[in-house]
Amino acid sequence: MQESVLLNVGFFTKSCVVLVCLCGVHLIVALFFYLTESPTKLTNYRKIQLDSDIFASKTHRTAVIQYDNGTEADVNKLMYSKGSVIKDAVEEEPAVLESCPETSTLLVGPMRVEFSEPVNLDMVRKDNPQLVKGGRYKPNDCVALQKVAIIIPFRNRDEHLKYWFHYLHPILQRQQLDYGIYVIQQDGEGTFNRAKLLNVGYVEALKEYDYDCFVFSDVDIIPMDDRNTYKCSSQPRHLSVSMDKFGFRLPYKQYFGGVSAMSKEQFQKINGFPNNYWGWGGEDDDIFNRLVFRGMKISRPSGDIGKCRMIRHSRDKKNEPNPQRL
Ligand code: BGC
Repeated sequence: MQESVLLNVGFFTKSCVVLVCLCGVHLIVALFFYLTESPTKLTNYRKIQLDSDIFASKTHRTAVIQYDNGTEADVNKLMYSKGSVIKDAVEEEPAVLESCPETSTLLVGPMRVEFSEPVNLDMVRKDNPQLVKGGRYKPNDCVALQKVAIIIPFRNRDEHLKYWFHYLHPILQRQQLDYGIYVIQQDGEGTFNRAKLLNVGYVEALKEYDYDCFVFSDVDIIPMDDRNTYKCSSQPRHLSVSMDKFGFRLPYKQYFGGVSAMSKEQFQKINGFPNNYWGWGGEDDDIFNRLVFRGMKISRPSGDIGKCRMIRHSRDKKNEPNPQRL
């Protein structure tokens, strides 16, 4: 009996020694791999810095992974494989993108436009994850045919602006435009000057990017059909051709108000817009005359495609009809 107890104790001690040895070997092997491992395993990162701006798009997001051994890698240069393991991407030639088609295949045609439900900027951000800070976007699978700056003259119309963002961002993206939005706000309480604000927008937009087309849009006009592309053509283009406010037709043949598009050349040919129309009215007729005097014709979409809605509102203070507009 005593002998068998002694035998058991001996066996137990030996087992413990073997176990401790195995643990030691395991520790050494683990230590060896830990110290010599390549910095390309996701498990080895210490810090990921992401450009956290909510507007940052996939293509503009910058992320740096810093490894324990001090090296850094740009996430954009890494490839993800199954199981979230990252490995270095083979340096590939950047893919040459083709031009976007003349008519986008993403268009849906007539759309319902309503202003009964309130919208907010969080919704706009959520619905447009590919927007880049500053209201900028360009397609990532083709090269846009035009670089379009959209200029909105503005003062005290926040609610309208939210609807404009809500409706227009998805439309402009379906139209596959390389675009930026410029809201040009008139400071102070003085009399409003729409055309001067549009001139300011033209100058400011060009400081930021090499735009070749400019769309001048009132903040309260929303297109009802995304085939009404917000881009320029060989002649100045009038886009808001059949507004609900005017019974879905042009109020008069020379009407060039609401939303219009002009290339850089067309805009320069007429020396921009008049700066001296203070208050409501007349500046768009002046722009029409300038275009005609310089030998240009107005192009327009059909009344069907050019349908749009205007958000109803009372007349703004300090934007009374300009008695001198005629
Ligand atoms: C004004 C324009 C305005 C148009 C439609 C004209 O009398 O001069 O500025 O766009 O009416 O409201």
